[in-house]
Amino acid sequence: MISKAPTPDDRAPVITIDGPSGSGKGTISRRLAGTLGWHYLDSGALYRLLACAALRDGIALDDASGLAALAERINGDFGVSPSGTECVWLDEEDVTARLRTEECGNAASKLATLPEVRAALLAWQRRHRRTPGLVADGRDMGTVVFPDALLKIFLTASPEERARRRYNQLKDNGNKVILDEILEDTRARDLRDRTRKTAPLEPAKDAFMLDNGGQEVAETLAIILQRLQTIG
Ligand code: C5P
Repeated sequence: MISKAPTPDDRAPVITIDGPSGSGKGTISRRLAGTLGWHYLDSGALYRLLACAALRDGIALDDASGLAALAERINGDFGVSPSGTECVWLDEEDVTARLRTEECGNAASKLATLPEVRAALLAWQRRHRRTPGLVADGRDMGTVVFPDALLKIFLTASPEERARRRYNQLKDNGNKVILDEILEDTRARDLRDRTRKTAPLEPAKDAFMLDNGGQEVAETLAIILQRLQTIG
């Protein structure tokens, strides 16, 4: 995948935040990166970007070699709009809103089961490691992409709570959604992520397990910062 990510620094510290869909990884990771003044990698957006390109080009979501070739050829870029919001471009087209749809999320979860796809996206993810540090959010950040991370967090919450969060998020973004369908999707995605052969969703052996069900974002963040202090 072609991107404008600058030269990486293999010595820069990394904090990985892994967990299932709707566990709050995105919100917590962004806030943590902002607090520390570190870079942020939303690895799910990368899988969604590839899914979006596959849907656009009519490439089947189980066509491993076609998808790996697509990953090499597409031009993806992540940045910030003049108004300060996060933006994602695919071959110069702004796909920020499309990436967050359930269609793209489900397609991403399907192609993410293919080892060829995961291998094609690995180097791209590692290129985001830059000084002063990186907060990397995903499913396999601590187990596969950055196994030498300084701190590994595995965030969880019940499927019902995660589905409710996704439902509110999608509704706030103007999508028409049904809670029961989101819960069903959440369970199906969990199962696919946990049972795939390559890089399944599982905590790293040295991960700090954090159930943030019923917690405010600030509370979760404080726990992570405290943990960081004990090792820093
Ligand atoms: O986190 P997000 O919902 O944006 O990710 C979309 C899909 O991409 C997930 O359901 C998951 O299957 C896949 N993914 C992955 N590994 C990652 C990040 C995302 O398999 N590191």
